[in-house]
Amino acid sequence: MTTLTVEGLSVHYGGVRAAHDVSFTVEPGQSLGIIGANGAGKTSTLKAVMGLAPRRATTIRFGEHDLLRAPAHTLVRHGIGYVPEGRHVFPGLSVEKNLLLGAYTSSWKHTPIEEVYELFPVLREMRHRLAGALSGGQQQMLAVGRALMCRPQVMLLDEPSMGLSPILVAEIAGVLKRLNADGLAILLVEQNAKLTFDVTTTCLVMENGQIAATGVSADLRNDPEVRRIYLGL
Ligand SMILES: Nc1ncnc2c1ncn2[C@@H]1O[C@H](COP(=O)(O)OP(=O)(O)O)[C@@H](O)[C@H]1O
Ligand SMILES: [Mg+2]
Repeated sequence: MTTLTVEGLSVHYGGVRAAHDVSFTVEPGQSLGIIGANGAGKTSTLKAVMGLAPRRATTIRFGEHDLLRAPAHTLVRHGIGYVPEGRHVFPGLSVEKNLLLGAYTSSWKHTPIEEVYELFPVLREMRHRLAGALSGGQQQMLAVGRALMCRPQVMLLDEPSMGLSPILVAEIAGVLKRLNADGLAILLVEQNAKLTFDVTTTCLVMENGQIAATGVSADLRNDPEVRRIYLGL
């Protein structure tokens, strides 16, 4: 079992500081959330962990693997799944081909496609359709399913609720909770604080590129200031 450790992470785009001195760990089987408004630095933080944004850090480590030295394309092999913001499925390929592409880097230990179809029955029904013909919610399920195909130990998800109806958000939440209960560690980045408190046990609040607060999700859900700012209550 493997812990993801991030210490002192900063991201700059030219003169723009997107993240500053961000530190957190995701323990095996843990579910950690990062909530924050648009522009807070959530996507930059996830991209930087994946080696996809200009970064500086004291430590980015997954167990024995120093991710500061690991090229982005090797992270999947180490057991890190990533669902980027905005789905990014291959619209001109079938649902099934999209899923099989998720397994290509680790053919020796990939998840049987049946397991993904069991989690998302709609993907089985649609398996011969082009991914581009799916609804937004179905494409999001496909993106999650594709990341699962390499049998990750930890999954990084960037705003899986974006643009989805409340019913589909609840369905995604249910799947994430089920995966977490089965031992998958989750790092969930969201503007949707309600979903995040529902799925995670611990949560960071990000503001202006920095961690402004950390707490137990169930406590944050009842914090008057968090309720006012992030839940609109
Ligand atoms: N490629 C980029 N080039 C320049 N600035 C960027 C880039 N990506 C993000 N930013 C800026 O970095 C800050 C954080 O953005 P982002 O990490 O996308 O936040 P979030 O995901 O929380 O909405 C914002 O001010 C945004 O405008
Ligand atoms: Mg974002």
